[in-house]
Amino acid sequence: MTNWRIRDFHSADLDGILHLWESLKDSDVEPVYALSEVLASCEKDHAVVAVQGDQVVGAAVGRAAHDQGWIVFLATLPEYRGRGIGTSLLAAVENRMAPHGLNKLSALMPEAETRVEAFLSRGFALKKNLRYFERTIPVQRQELGALGQLGGRILARDLWENVAGMRKEKELLERRLVLPLAEADLADEYGVVPPRAVVLFGPPGTGKTTFAKAIASRLEWPFVEVFPSRLASDPKGLAGALRETFLEIAELEHCVVFIDEVEEIASQRSGEPPSPLQGVTNELLKIIPAFREQPGRLLVCATNFIRALDTAFLRHGRFDYVIPIGLPDRQAREAMWQRFIPATVVDDVDVELLVERTEGFSPADIEYAARSASQRALEKAVYDDGGAASAGNVSVREAVRKGPCTQDYLDAIGDTRTTVTQEVHELFLEDIDSLGRV
Ligand SMILES: Nc1ncnc2c1ncn2[C@@H]1O[C@H](COP(=O)(O)OP(=O)(O)OP(=O)(O)O)[C@@H](O)[C@H]1O
Ligand SMILES: [Mg+2]
Repeated sequence: MTNWRIRDFHSADLDGILHLWESLKDSDVEPVYALSEVLASCEKDHAVVAVQGDQVVGAAVGRAAHDQGWIVFLATLPEYRGRGIGTSLLAAVENRMAPHGLNKLSALMPEAETRVEAFLSRGFALKKNLRYFERTIPVQRQELGALGQLGGRILARDLWENVAGMRKEKELLERRLVLPLAEADLADEYGVVPPRAVVLFGPPGTGKTTFAKAIASRLEWPFVEVFPSRLASDPKGLAGALRETFLEIAELEHCVVFIDEVEEIASQRSGEPPSPLQGVTNELLKIIPAFREQPGRLLVCATNFIRALDTAFLRHGRFDYVIPIGLPDRQAREAMWQRFIPATVVDDVDVELLVERTEGFSPADIEYAARSASQRALEKAVYDDGGAASAGNVSVREAVRKGPCTQDYLDAIGDTRTTVTQEVHELFLEDIDSLGRV
């Protein structure tokens, strides 16, 4: 049985490649390159097969990338091993890749790989002290089109860590949402049904949008924001456009869908004649059950005005949790100040005092006060230095280096009008009692 021969791969050999792949799997060797990658390279890159009669008994597949080429697959049927087929396959595939002018050919093989001889006899050296790392990219290539269409995107990885303070809210979201969604199998073992839809409510600027994005970042799921105001101009009308958008969303493997100011499309259905938005609210009520049936996704709706929402909208079974996001407590304000004050000056600033003076401030208010303190301090240092300083002057740079001081922050705080009035805050506390569900 020596009359095997090597030739270029043809499409008709795909079954043979599949058979080889399965023979590898049977011998408990987990190949580094996925089958789909190997098949893609067979068609688009460089592949040679060893055949005996009509049967494919071995194959080598390579891929050229700039100066370095990679062997993505090398296999011989078990009963054909030890005859030098692997060596010949390697030689042939290297030949095919030669026109690329590669200066290195590499192969990454499972530790249990037995055809070491084939590599060694073709002049490959076994590299020591290498480790193989692998990460699965959360969004697959075939989803990118749908994601782009929806204006969705993958957010930065660190948004969750960047939410300063808000320990209570963070812990709640981590336990109720992130844990069961990220550890779906574990949740299943405990009979936990992962949440599919939540409402975040609270006064303006408390971090609802920030949390929605942070959840997506934490889960490494794409973030898709649905803008009812943009959909309204669609020729199909808002309800039709909303339906279509959710059909597109259904094509994604995973995602966090965010609807901000949801009260605009899901407010109390009342009045005669019915408001034209009623059809939209009805549509949304229909969309949510279908959305809930698919795993790997979470709908986050945010509102400043939860009592305006349609009561049917909020009921059990539609939203798993109705979570308040309120004003930051002492600890949260301290964490925010620590975040917003430049590291170079933070030790000289009386942060405790700022924390005290910003009771009732939202994160947005604190961020605003911190920014304006920085801006003022910079302007003061550059322009108010008795006229002696001008841009480019060394002494100016020295002054600028000092950065904002406690008084700059106190001044900025004094000039910041808080967004959340006492009255709004009290209404929010009532809403937590009557509508919150965690
Ligand atoms: N925990 C936080 N740490 C640091 N910055 C925060 C935090 N929460 C919110 N911010 C900042 O405060 C600002 C307002 O936050 P965000 O837009 O998330 O609030 P919101 O509740 O969605 O407001 P609105 O009700 O007006 O939509 C943003 O600039 C955000 O970066
Ligand atoms: Mg918001």
